[in-house]
Amino acid sequence: MKTDHTPYEAGISTEAISRKYHIPVEQIIKLGSNENTYGISPKAADAARQAVGEAYLYPDNHALLQALSKHTGVDPSGLVLGVGSTEIIDMIARAFLNDTTSAVTSEFAFAMFGVMTRLAGAELAEAPAKDFGHDPETLLKATSEKTRVIWLANPNNPTGTFIPPAELKAFLDQVPRSIIVVLDEAYKEYLAPEDQTDTVAWLRDHPNLIVLRTFSKIYGMAGMRLGYGMMAPELAGMLNRVKQPLNINGVSLAAALAALDDHEFVKASYEHNLAGRHQLQTGFDQLGLKHLSAYGNFVTVHVPNGAAVNEKLLAKGIIVRSLTPYNLPHFLRVTVGKPEENARLLAELKQAL
Ligand SMILES: Cc1ncc(COP(=O)(O)O)c(C=O)c1O
Repeated sequence: MKTDHTPYEAGISTEAISRKYHIPVEQIIKLGSNENTYGISPKAADAARQAVGEAYLYPDNHALLQALSKHTGVDPSGLVLGVGSTEIIDMIARAFLNDTTSAVTSEFAFAMFGVMTRLAGAELAEAPAKDFGHDPETLLKATSEKTRVIWLANPNNPTGTFIPPAELKAFLDQVPRSIIVVLDEAYKEYLAPEDQTDTVAWLRDHPNLIVLRTFSKIYGMAGMRLGYGMMAPELAGMLNRVKQPLNINGVSLAAALAALDDHEFVKASYEHNLAGRHQLQTGFDQLGLKHLSAYGNFVTVHVPNGAAVNEKLLAKGIIVRSLTPYNLPHFLRVTVGKPEENARLLAELKQAL
């Protein structure tokens, strides 16, 4: 295993900025980690509070697996739960990659793909992006005999770009069955109805496909750390061999079960996101700033000097994500906030430019 890799840089916390700049926590706005600015589903929060009393018992994931099976149509034998979908990325890397193999991802893809690939000791081939998004053509070209995994996020983080389903399906049809395709759909629930496709239906014809989803985004449960993977039972069996048996705690399991049923919260979060994303895009246009096409709960915007603008915003108590670590030094990723948070970000950004 390699230990000389660059670790993933998690988003800065509100507390860290409060300590550094002596700004009261309640005056800080956090638009840096693509969390749901409207909080956790109230039904999930209630269920979590109730479940705390049972925390002396080891957790039982049966009820959530059954509910997810009903929600997705995937048999429980093809479902794997992870401490965030990032744990499933880790499991996939540990189960299928080693120092004799390689994985392929795209330039500007979600950083955890590279982190976990390198941790497993495997090589990572980065396919050139097209318009900042994944390019099926270069991804295919980047594969070799050593490739065991292709990592994709759709929509992608941090660029917000989206591969249309028909293009993605055509790509999948061309990938040899010996290569596992990981399709990370952390932001799927934010897609407009016309962009939605039943990607899970593709599992039937593609035993090499793994689809990842999470409770961290639209369900507002990033702090609960719970994601899930859908795949052929054979692949799930292989992941279960590298998984801790009781990885998800009972409080998160109970919260997720309730969140799945909270259609009202999901719908409201979707609508708030649509309006907030539009507010940010319009504001960036008015400031004369270019921004990338946005399909998730964030907008990636071009600024003259990303690091300097980011520092100025932090000093004002506004946390966004500088994309310098992604080799995009002129871009900031801004999570969609509440209307007043977006307005304050836009006003401070105007000053910072
Ligand atoms: C593409 C993508 N995948 C996975 C994750 C991580 O999700 P989780 O909180 O489920 O580990 C994120 C979080 O930002 C993401 O952007």
